[in-house]
Amino acid sequence: MTAGADAGTNAAGRPGAVPLGVGAVLVTRRRIARRVAALAERIAESFGDEEMTIVAVLTGVLVFLADLLRRLPTRIRVEVVSLSSYPGAAVQSRGPSFRLWPVGDLVGRHVLVLDDILDTGQTLACLLDRVRSLGAASVRTCVLLRKNCPRVERVEPDWVGFDVPDAFVVGYGLDHDGLYRNLPDIRVLEAQDDAGGAP
Ligand code: XMP
Repeated sequence: MTAGADAGTNAAGRPGAVPLGVGAVLVTRRRIARRVAALAERIAESFGDEEMTIVAVLTGVLVFLADLLRRLPTRIRVEVVSLSSYPGAAVQSRGPSFRLWPVGDLVGRHVLVLDDILDTGQTLACLLDRVRSLGAASVRTCVLLRKNCPRVERVEPDWVGFDVPDAFVVGYGLDHDGLYRNLPDIRVLEAQDDAGGAP
């Protein structure tokens, strides 16, 4: 489905408009909301009375973090780190590089590493190494999406929101070249003919 076929949401510049280049809905906002609630229950059960420190990977995780956080009942600290694997208009991973690591003391803390999407696995593997080396008492992982593609690093999250095909996806926090994070559903980025870096 093209953006223009998405009835009622295609007027350029209107809030909620779906821009050209953004394709079919893969996961609707309703399914996301239901799944986030279920994930929060599972995670809360697992942590029980332990104080949780979420280490969240900016920027794609922003919306997921905000939604999940408000459903978690336990005592929670939030730390954010910034890594980039897809600089600019890239749609092929260039491997993770840290932009920001402001995380405080993790010694003895029970950590939940939270990321938007598991692709090659390099980001999660890199973070797990770093968090463990900082003396966390336990480290659990949750990703909203897991791409069905070969992994460079063998890493399996404790909780996964949705399994998705090996396509570049945007919306609900995920971007392409900084755009589309505000789309409420998760959508596939359509192939483009120009030199914009799309597949
Ligand atoms: P790796 O390959 O390290 O990738 O598992 C994880 C990070 O890469 C970004 N990523 C995407 N971002 N749409 C996006 O907007 C995608 O389809 C996509 N695939 C990977 C993301 O930042 C994630 O943290």
